[in-house]
Order: sequence, then C-alpha cells, then structure tokens
Amino acid sequence: MMPMEHTLQLGEILKDGMYPVESEGGDNWRILHGDTLKLVKAFQPGTFDAVITDPPYASGGTKQNERNRTTNQKYSSMSPEKALPDFDGDQKDQRSWTHWMAEWLYDVRKACKSGAPICLFIDWRQYPSMTDALQWAGWIWRGTAVWDKTNSRPQKGRFRQQTEFIIWGSNGPMPISRPVSCLPGVFRYGNPQNRVHVTEKPLQLMKDVVQICEPGGRILDPFAGAGTTILAAAQQGYQAVGIEVTDAYFQLGTERVREALKEEVDVQ
Ligand SMILES: C[S@@+](CC[C@H](N)C(=O)[O-])C[C@H]1O[C@@H](n2cnc3c(N)ncnc32)[C@H](O)[C@@H]1O
Repeated sequence: MMPMEHTLQLGEILKDGMYPVESEGGDNWRILHGDTLKLVKAFQPGTFDAVITDPPYASGGTKQNERNRTTNQKYSSMSPEKALPDFDGDQKDQRSWTHWMAEWLYDVRKACKSGAPICLFIDWRQYPSMTDALQWAGWIWRGTAVWDKTNSRPQKGRFRQQTEFIIWGSNGPMPISRPVSCLPGVFRYGNPQNRVHVTEKPLQLMKDVVQICEPGGRILDPFAGAGTTILAAAQQGYQAVGIEVTDAYFQLGTERVREALKEEVDVQ
C-alpha cells in the first residue's frame, strides 16, 4: 500500500495556471472547493474516464414556492436541532435548472475521454429535464438504471415514491471491448443510517455504480457532497476527483474520505 500522500496533483488535471483552488486529497483522490460551473472549464481535455454524480435535484415539490424551501425542509425529516447543513444550488426553477445542467454537462464532457460513461442520479420530477440536458450537452443517452430505496412513505391511493433513477450515457461511441463486465439495472439499498449529508447516497450503491468505469480509471464527481462517490471510487481502486461548493460539505466530505481510507490502511 502506498503512503497517503497528495499524489493526485492538480497539475495533472487542471489547465496550466487556471483556478488556483483550495483542495484536499490523498493518494488517489482529491476534492476541489468551488463552483462546478467555473471549475469544470479548467480541466485538461481527456482527463476523466467516467463521470458519476448526484447533482442538486432542485426538486422537492411541484410548485416553485415548495422548491424554494431549504434542503432540510425538502429532503429531511430530522428535527431542527439534529438538522444537517443545508446545501447550495437547489432552488432553481425548471428552466434555469435545465439550462444550468446542460452548461456544466457540456464542459464536463470536454474534460472526458471519448467513450467515457456518465451516470446521473435524479428523481421522477426532474427526470425529463435531465435527459434533455444530457443530450443538449452532446452526450449519448443510453438508458436508465433504478435505485430501489426499498422503503418510503406510504401514500394512500397512490404508489410509493420508492425509487430514484440513474440516467446513464457516454461521450460518443462506447466500445463493447471496454474491460467492464455486465452490470445490474436495479440496485436495492436502503437510505444510509446516520447520514452526514442531507441527501447522502448509500456507500455500497456507489461502489456498485462506479464499476461502469474501466478498472483504475479516473472518475469525476462534480457534486461531491459528503464524498460518497469519491470514497467508493477510491476504495474500489479508481482515482477520484470531486468538486463541492458548500463550505460545510467540503470540510465534512474531505475529512470523511480521509478518515475512512486511513482506517483501511490502519487495519491492513
Ligand atoms: C445531492 S448532493 C450530493 C450528495 C452526495 N452524493 C453524497 O452522497 O454525499 C449535491 C451537492 O452538490 C453541491 N453543489 C451544489 N451546487 C454546486 C456547484 N455549483 N458546484 C459544486 N457543488 C455544488 C451541494 O453543496 C451538495 O452537497
């Protein structure tokens, strides 16, 4: 096992002289602190082998005043004294969100290798806008996998909203010869207990999803949150680069990833 040094250097991935950003990282991972819309323009072309991300859904209601609530009000049932930090970027209306999605998706695609896969988490409300944005940005939309959360609030006379979706595609043709095996189309994992992020994804779910990247590849998560994708990728032998704008989650995510990977080294 290599020592936990800052070996994933910014110089490797950012264009010369662009955006001196705060960042934290370890042997095979790094999280940049800042706004994805600006930072993705700074990556060298062809830097990433896959994009796996869970952007702010700007969802949580059908009317704009419902969507304008804080992320805790929309996505968490924790009492105010136990509430986790709110996060930025979740209050856009449908048109602004779709436009914003297409913009960063375009720049992210430019930073990816040809054939790189992309996976985007989303709920049912924003699903159509997300597939529009993906394609406007020049990605090929290839399908949808399902995250079955296994339980959710029952609704009288209605179906449970028990699933979220993983819209996936690629940057141009995706050769069948990539050294990646057959992957499932449905993932069944309950929401994490003891969450540290309001909309944290299960670690095992992300360990499964990152398998879409070819072994040892470099994965980008432009909305890193508490670093779940970054941790899952690093644990599975990938390189991982995250971006996170909310101060509290940049701190919390980098500490979480560092501690979890340190524990792994300690037990070996
Ligand atoms: C849905 S959460 C991701 C949660 C993550 N998957 C996890 O398991 O912890 C989206 C994250 O994107 C961040 N975010 C929102 N707008 C951003 C932007 N413009 N640039 C970078 N990060 C942003 C938010 O602060 C939030 O933490």
